This record gives sequence, C-alpha cells and structure tokens, in this order.
Amino acid sequence: MSKNFRLLILPGDGIGPEVMIEVDKVISIISSMFDVQFDIEKDDIGGSAYDRYGVPLADETLEKAKSSHAVLLGAVGGEKWDNLDFSLKPEQGLLKIRKELDLFANLRPALCFESMVEASSLKPHLVSGLDIMIVRELTGGVYFGKPRGIETKSDGSRVGINTQVYATHEIRRVARIAFELAQKRDNRVVSCEKSNVMESGILWREEVQYVHDNEFNDVSLSHMYADNCAMQLVRNPKQFDVIVTDNLFGDILSDEASMLTGSLGMLPSASLGEIDQNNFRKALYEPVHGSAPDIAGQGIANPIASILSFAMCLKYSFNMDKASDLISTAVNKVLENGFKTKDLLGDENKNLTTQEMGDEIVKQISDLGADNGS
Ligand code: IPM
Ligand code: MG
Repeated sequence: MSKNFRLLILPGDGIGPEVMIEVDKVISIISSMFDVQFDIEKDDIGGSAYDRYGVPLADETLEKAKSSHAVLLGAVGGEKWDNLDFSLKPEQGLLKIRKELDLFANLRPALCFESMVEASSLKPHLVSGLDIMIVRELTGGVYFGKPRGIETKSDGSRVGINTQVYATHEIRRVARIAFELAQKRDNRVVSCEKSNVMESGILWREEVQYVHDNEFNDVSLSHMYADNCAMQLVRNPKQFDVIVTDNLFGDILSDEASMLTGSLGMLPSASLGEIDQNNFRKALYEPVHGSAPDIAGQGIANPIASILSFAMCLKYSFNMDKASDLISTAVNKVLENGFKTKDLLGDENKNLTTQEMGDEIVKQISDLGADNGS
C-alpha cells in the first residue's frame, strides 16, 4: 500500500511563492518515483495572510498546520507591510506558527557542496568538505521572553525591553536533539552561550553539561562563548560538527555559517517538535533565507534552499532517506554541471532563472533515479 502524507504549503511573501513553485515540481517527481502520495494544501502566511485574513497567521491556517504531517514554508516579510502594527507584521506569523506547533529545535545544516567551494567568501581550503549542523533553540529566549515592550517613562523618555529567559526543560530538550544528531555524525557538540555576562547563559551551560553527563557521555562536548563562535566560524569553520545554541545566537550564527557555503540561497532548515504518543513529530521546513523583496518577482531567486528543505522533510518527517539523498545528489550534480543562479556568482551570461534551476534539478532527479532503477 502506498504511503500517504498530508503536506501544508505556505509560500508566504517575496520570493517565497516563486521558489515554492519549484518545490511543487520536485514533490511531483518524488511522488511518481517512490511509492508515496502527498496530499497538498496551500494557504497564506505573513504579509499575504494579512492581505487575505487581516492577520499574519489565521486560526484556520494554524489548524491545518496542526493536522498536517509536515509544513513547507517559503518566506515572510516585505516593505509593503512595514508600517503595520508590530503584532500584525509578517514575521509574527512565522513566530506564531513555530510557537504554536512547539517547534523547539531548528536544524540548520551548513554544508558546502564541492562545486560551490569557489563561491564561498572564505578561501577554498577552509570550506572544502565543510559540514556543520547548527541546532538553534526556536521557541524560547529573548524572542518570546516577558516582560517585553516599549514603555514611556514619566519624563517622556522611552525604554525598549526584551527578556532572555530559559527554563531547564527548554535547554535540555534541545540539547538532546543536538547530541542525538552528533551521534549520527562526527559525535562532537559545541554549545554556545554568553555565560560570562548572562545568568541565562550560565544555566544554559550547566544544563547542556547535565544532559551530556547523564545521557550522552559518549559524545564529545565543549562550551564556547557565542562571540568566540562567530569568530571561529570564519577562522576555521571545519572545527565544528554540531553547534547547539539559543534562539538569538542561533539566528545570527546560522546566517554567518550560510555564507561559508557560498550563498544564503543554498541553506535549508527543519524545525522539529517533540515526538508525540503516536510516534509522530510536528515539523516545519523552510529555507534560511528571507523573502528578499529586492529581487522578488524577477525570476532570479535561487530555489535550492527550498528544494533542500523538502529533502530534509523527506528525511526527518517521512523516513525517506533514499529520496532525500537523491534530491541532494541531484542538486550537487546540477551545480557541478555549471548551472548557477545569479546569487551563486556563476558566469553572468549563463545564469539560470528560478524556473530553469527547478527544471534542471527535476531532470537530474529523474536521470539519477533511472540510473538507480528507483
Ligand atoms: C530566521 C529569520 C526569522 C527569525 C525572522 C524572519 C523572524 O531571520 O528564520 O532566521 O529571526 O527567526
Ligand atoms: Mg535569521
């Protein structure tokens, strides 16, 4: 009997819809090559949801997300919605869906494809073979801590307040994910915080160490201040295997790591929740890049990060490792064959459009599949 999975696709804003069209094509070919059927629903999030529903994430959309096997998201945000009240801004839709689905672990692999070594901002020997997994805590910390807000004092001056707060269980559960991932990789975890200035950082360090000592003492663990980690990422990135860190540091370090791989347009991500009693994990997959309003609508966006996000979905939500690897191999082959979108700094005259890149990848998947007899 063929498997059947419900997917909710939220293309969002800016280049989101353009790149997600290419993901649709990849979904179709995977479904035709493997014994699997995807029931796809589409809805809005971010600015496009505001335009349609008056809020950046409608309740009905959230319900659909909760009853799907996985959510695929494009990107949110854009100038058009800059003047909205803070609570209605596109980004709030994204933060809300992460929080409501309790997607506390955000996996951001920074992998440098061999064909992309030259596009990196670092020297080739520093990034050749690079394979880092950043595990970012996604539903806590300063992104959600209270108190928060902007207050006007009696003398008319204003203060802006955000609170970095972490509870034991929030740190432990994301640490576990990092250690589990490390066990399947090079078995090394670096935990990043600022325990030299922040109490929440002290707790972070202690709790990660606790989980290590009690549950994962076969994994090598070291601690690093987040500023040092930012520096080490550009000095000698290959020293890292898995990095686990909080919401804000993870946001920043993953953008930094993405440039090592050649382009922000290459990086996928998976946001995972806890495994429930039916052995099922809520999950959302999205590219690390944003909505890139400056290039939206021009057909030049790189769809690879979104396509690789779907590959992560196959692996982490559907246990379809073979199909997932097929997509990654196809992407690498396409790049090796010299096909590049504008962000990948290929030959300017030969740059592919978003659609052409999607088509090349689909063609490659089909060719590789035929070779493998899948
Ligand atoms: C990311 C983004 C988001 C974040 C924004 C769009 C809210 O930068 O996913 O990295 O800060 O988490
Ligand atoms: Mg970010």
